[in-house]
Amino acid sequence: MTPRTAPSTLVRPAGAGIGGVGRALLAGLLVLVTGTHGAFAQAADTQTPSAAAVASAHPLATRAGHDILQAGGNAFDAAVAVGAMLAVVEPTGSGLGGGGFWLLHRAADGREIMLDGRERAPLDAHADMYLDTDGAVIPAASINGALASAIPGTPAALAHLASQYGRLPLARSLAPAIHAAREGFPVDAHYLQLARFRLEALRRSPAAAAIFLDQGDLPKEGYILRQPDLARALESIAGHGHAGFYAGPLAQDLVDGVRAAGGIWSLRDLAGYRVVEREPVRGEYRGIRITTAAPPSSGGIALVTMLNILAGYPLEDLAAPDRAHLVIEAMRRAYRDRAVYLGDPDFTEVPMEVLLSPAYAAGLRNAIRPDRATPSAMLPGVAADATGTDTTHFSILDRAGNRVAATLSINLPFGAAFMPPGTGILLNNEMDDFSIKPGVGNSYGLVGAQPNAIAPGKRPLSSMTPTFLDDGRRIAILGTPGGSRIITMVLLAALDFQRGAPPREWVGLRRYHHQYLPDVVSYEPGTFSADETAALAARGHTLEERTRPYGNMQAILWDRADNRVSAASDPRGGGTAETR
Ligand code: DON
Repeated sequence: MTPRTAPSTLVRPAGAGIGGVGRALLAGLLVLVTGTHGAFAQAADTQTPSAAAVASAHPLATRAGHDILQAGGNAFDAAVAVGAMLAVVEPTGSGLGGGGFWLLHRAADGREIMLDGRERAPLDAHADMYLDTDGAVIPAASINGALASAIPGTPAALAHLASQYGRLPLARSLAPAIHAAREGFPVDAHYLQLARFRLEALRRSPAAAAIFLDQGDLPKEGYILRQPDLARALESIAGHGHAGFYAGPLAQDLVDGVRAAGGIWSLRDLAGYRVVEREPVRGEYRGIRITTAAPPSSGGIALVTMLNILAGYPLEDLAAPDRAHLVIEAMRRAYRDRAVYLGDPDFTEVPMEVLLSPAYAAGLRNAIRPDRATPSAMLPGVAADATGTDTTHFSILDRAGNRVAATLSINLPFGAAFMPPGTGILLNNEMDDFSIKPGVGNSYGLVGAQPNAIAPGKRPLSSMTPTFLDDGRRIAILGTPGGSRIITMVLLAALDFQRGAPPREWVGLRRYHHQYLPDVVSYEPGTFSADETAALAARGHTLEERTRPYGNMQAILWDRADNRVSAASDPRGGGTAETR
């Protein structure tokens, strides 16, 4: 593989933990390492799809993607347009103040990389920054306000995608978003629900309240949300690329606003931000090639671990509760490993080879009893305690066969609910994805340990799992928001893909989830029959029916046998999937 690199890029093999002290020093350097992990042959695609497809969480974003394809852009230009449009019309979920992972497949040479645009902790961050002098967690400090925000990666990723992979100028791909920011768009019921959830926090940031609320109160459905400052920020990126965000007047305003509100950003933080091109995590499950998110996402490793465990069972021959029991036990074990081993690979040694090996999974499988749930407390791990929810995913396939699966986030709905005045940029609260104290659960109840402790310049561990599946005939592009549940949603969809189901079914599927701690199986209404819940409870599982459905999966399927392209958007959300 011959990676194309840019001065702003690090290319690293997945899991090649650099290890040792002072690794943060490496963060600003140009390092070129050719990938060795899971070396899949990469070659030009020999077939092209009969149609292009875009699936995203908002109709205006799906349309912007297709418009850019029609204007001569490729899937990577369309990804810039969709990502930027979502920053405008779905400000609850992602944006310029956040980060994310972009899984790319380039048809011309088969090159596959994960563009890591994850946020980084500020250089003045430290492990105990959310604890008081007694070592107790300061309530909400990692959730609301300027101190909760890590250094954004999405603007850098947009500039990198356009310059390294796109065909159109960045300004062209950003144009639809700039227009929508300036002219406004009508807010929908989903927006209002999340604004209600974050109302008090939004009111504490005058700049955020002025944009996202109407005179300090919830707007009515159909209210036209205009974001002139955000339009100017997008224009700054359109005009100056990476530097339009990370240097110059916008950078100064961001830093001033954060510091005035008690945050710790510096210009050095912004100047030092780099995207990283990483080797995706690879796996294989019953003839399906899995290409998925690498650390600092936990998603790919956990997904492959679960599939490796499940590969040892004849799942399709089992009764529903027997199958669900084994899937739950696989989830429990993969999430335990997440808590114990995973963190930013530039700071912590991630034992990738072991965690991804079928032999390791066989050991985990051997300890699963078909008749009994394993209490999580019996697995050596980390002790814990609790859980909230936005983020966004989109999938793109162009007519040349280029593919993008991107999951982008500002973490909780409206991120930190903080906007530095005059910038139009709502900042993330991704610092909460770190383990702020060993054994203390984050907003998703996820526990962690030293590998995911806060350190200057470090990326918080994520669950975002943009994924490609390829069984030789069919190719799937998928992902979803949903915090800790993302990985199990992608797992259930992958199992459904394996059964031969179409994308409409993967995105609509009733979902269940186990994440090691808390030791409960939570499930959407309608997932299990009464008999099935009884059978699972009899094995010792604690079951919790959720009041609300979760997830917002966006998926594309290209069936190369009959060269048909189909796409689906999760019925739980307001998104659209269109093939053209
Ligand atoms: O990176 C992560 O795992 C989280 N920040 C994602 C948050 C999320 O999906 C919220 N969505 N509903």
